[in-house]
Amino acid sequence: MIDETLTMIPGPTPVHPRILDALARPTVSHVAPSFVEAFREALAGFRTLCRSESGQPFVVAGGGTLAMEIALVNVVAPGERLLVVSQGYFGDRYAELAQAFGIPCDVLRSEWGKAVAPDELKARLASGSYAAVTITHVDTSTGTKSPAAAYCELLKGRDELVILDGVCATGGIDEPFDAWGVDVLLTGPQKAIGAPPGLALALFSEKALARRRSRAAVPAYYADVLRWLPVMQDPSRYFSTPCVNEITALAEALRILHTEGLEARFARHARQARAFRAGIEACGLSLFTEAPSRAETLSVVLYPEGIADAAFRKEMAARGVVVSGSLGSLAGRAFRLGHMGNIGPAEVAATLGAIEESLAALGVAVPRGAALAAAAPFLAPGA
Ligand SMILES: Cc1ncc(COP(=O)(O)O)c(C=O)c1O
Repeated sequence: MIDETLTMIPGPTPVHPRILDALARPTVSHVAPSFVEAFREALAGFRTLCRSESGQPFVVAGGGTLAMEIALVNVVAPGERLLVVSQGYFGDRYAELAQAFGIPCDVLRSEWGKAVAPDELKARLASGSYAAVTITHVDTSTGTKSPAAAYCELLKGRDELVILDGVCATGGIDEPFDAWGVDVLLTGPQKAIGAPPGLALALFSEKALARRRSRAAVPAYYADVLRWLPVMQDPSRYFSTPCVNEITALAEALRILHTEGLEARFARHARQARAFRAGIEACGLSLFTEAPSRAETLSVVLYPEGIADAAFRKEMAARGVVVSGSLGSLAGRAFRLGHMGNIGPAEVAATLGAIEESLAALGVAVPRGAALAAAAPFLAPGA
């Protein structure tokens, strides 16, 4: 293997060999019956993942940011107001997108590491109305999981459309689209779904599609869902050449995901998060994110006094494990550890071992084996 490292960053995540095999199959025509079937399966598998009966899935070449743009431009017109609920860098990105499209927006922002309290949203909604509200399910910059279900409950029966950014959650944390009343769920394949990056995924409710249809035009061409709709309803149709290999790989990733089962997969993510946190704390490190808001998909770990970010990550890389630095005001103060997608006890053990050894190499005394011993009780299924 040329680059045999364990990629434990909050996306992209390790890609299972079965998915890599699917990616490496010969590129076929975008209208070949085998590809059309794989595309159809990927669309259906994505909708099932979101626990939706009637949501309309869209899968197009791009990234999570394109999915954010697709969600916004199709349901909020320039000049209409948007409310952004932000717990970090990616929440704030929605305010930037709004600005780029001439959409005035209010931002309800939490302190980093905490979530916006549902009561704050309630108070804001009591004093104004919006075309839509954006919610980041897990903000990858801060490791914060928002109380998305509670926010959605407050928005039920109101005119605002609910846009949920699931990029760092979908596939690892439950997102019951129909039950929560979400209007657009957007996500990417490269995190808890465990496929390679390169696609923008979005699920639109009937209300969201009706909002798009009520407008003669939107300030987009490639990102206009009405141009894609015929393809998503019949993948043998053409609008823009779909990325055949990535969609084939997504179909395989979703096959793996549904074979595991949603409940089992979400429970595994919760167990692995607990295991990592127990191991990290056994090393004497502390977590940045406030306890009730910690996401199951990543952890943000504060460095002890005297440990430099670059030195620590270099030691980790020398042991074959790649973790991420932090963004914004956390840069240099914490590392981000992804624990989502197709990983299991072997990856947890290898990563915790590398953390222990890297700390020891940098002069932090850690009892050998303490991290894994603390994590082990959480690793068995059913723990
Ligand atoms: C929560 C969240 N939203 C949106 C994005 C943007 O996705 P992409 O980098 O694929 O454009 C990211 C990327 O990490 C993310 O974590």
